[in-house]
Amino acid sequence: MDLFRRIRRKPTLELEDIQATVLRARPEPYFGTHAILEITDPAAGKELLRRLAPRVTSAARWDEPQPSWMALAVTYQGLVALGVPESSLSSFPANFRAGMAARAERLRDTGPNAPEHWEFPFGTARVHVAVTVFAENEADWQSEVAAYERELREVPGVNLLSHQDFGADGFNVFGYRDGFSQPVVEGSGAEPLPGDGRPIKAGEFVLGYPSETGSPLATPAPDVLGRNGTYVVFRKYHSHVDAFNRYLHDNGRTKAERELLAAKLVGRWRSGAPLALAPDRDDAALGADPKRINDFDYADDPRGLHTPLGSHIRRMNPRDTKLEVLTDVNIRRIIRRSTSYGEPLPADALTDDGRPRGLDFIALGARAIDNVEFLQSEWVNSGNFVGLGKEKDPMISLQDKKGAYFTVPGSPPRRIQNIQSFNTLLGGEYFFMPGLSAIDWLSR
Ligand code: HEM
Repeated sequence: MDLFRRIRRKPTLELEDIQATVLRARPEPYFGTHAILEITDPAAGKELLRRLAPRVTSAARWDEPQPSWMALAVTYQGLVALGVPESSLSSFPANFRAGMAARAERLRDTGPNAPEHWEFPFGTARVHVAVTVFAENEADWQSEVAAYERELREVPGVNLLSHQDFGADGFNVFGYRDGFSQPVVEGSGAEPLPGDGRPIKAGEFVLGYPSETGSPLATPAPDVLGRNGTYVVFRKYHSHVDAFNRYLHDNGRTKAERELLAAKLVGRWRSGAPLALAPDRDDAALGADPKRINDFDYADDPRGLHTPLGSHIRRMNPRDTKLEVLTDVNIRRIIRRSTSYGEPLPADALTDDGRPRGLDFIALGARAIDNVEFLQSEWVNSGNFVGLGKEKDPMISLQDKKGAYFTVPGSPPRRIQNIQSFNTLLGGEYFFMPGLSAIDWLSR
């Protein structure tokens, strides 16, 4: 499917100064690498930024294909390591300054998901800069990675702490098409596709522009640092596809029953076709059609007879679902740039092969940190907002060891017991993704 939206109106955002990843969709298939860097002295950090700055791609012509592009983001500890003055450091929001590990309670990252179990370097104060390369083919990916690695080797005082390759054909390791339902950013030049809803005010996603509340959100000081920047929430998950497959097998006698349950859990068939438009059987052509794949709401399905109220996409974007705990859904939107790593496990594999596979969940937005904290605590790990009590998100929550279930509404409703945690958190961090002039400011 062509994930690209097109520039149809004159953009009003400063696209040359905004990083490409904010507006550029990843291609299908895609290749890439996430690298985490540590800065051991400010001069080295500034030198690194000077060298990488020309490689960081802007969002200008974000709708045109590009062989590869690079993104750069900095943690609070990274800003400290770069020697950013206190007056500026203290202008960043408290949760960003604390870092993801310190926010574990609010994020409900407990038990196996707690920071003490995370992979190095996540959760340590040594995570300073993240560099991501996205590419549409293997050759351009490799040459872009080789280029930044050359720069890294030439800057003593900067350490490469981790390097993770990713890539997929557009389907995640559970076999679902993923990453296409995105908010439309006002002023980006994108025309909404059917079902996208109205464009959301740019200030929800890029700092320095009016937000849904009318005025811009608090922007870090000085203006050159904050303007055109955004926040990034990065969460690396290991996916237990074997446990997911077993759940389907334990609760579906035929392949058709298992695939229907798989669709009920997410709210979409693996092809991407939404249950709202294809309630009984998959429709691959619908799943491959960007003009139809999002063209639905939940108005005619208040009880969740087609799309369960507790399914992943209905929780994460309730659209017009009547919520028991009121919230403005338009300020809860996030841009997702998640990437999959590892080989998918086929749907008939009921035991684990022990190989790493999963998803690097990446959310962008001026409120991305607040929003993911909100989603994790209210809409992922609780069901109260749609009258589901203790029931949790079937794909990404931390399920209780005993008594966890997923409800498929109907007459009578089917309560499917023994749902497991299908994804375990391996680590994560909060980043600030500066605009291009801000990278220049940081490097001086
Ligand atoms: C391993 C982890 C995850 C998996 C396998 C997963 C899977 C999916 C799939 C298959 C879709 C439907 C395709 C699409 O709309 O692009 C989706 C949509 C979505 N997911 Fe996830 N997801 C994961 C983690 C998360 C997390 C951690 C969040 C937020 C805290 C999240 C928020 C969303 C949102 C907002 C949508 C779009 C819903 C819509 O607009 O209708 N996902 N996810």
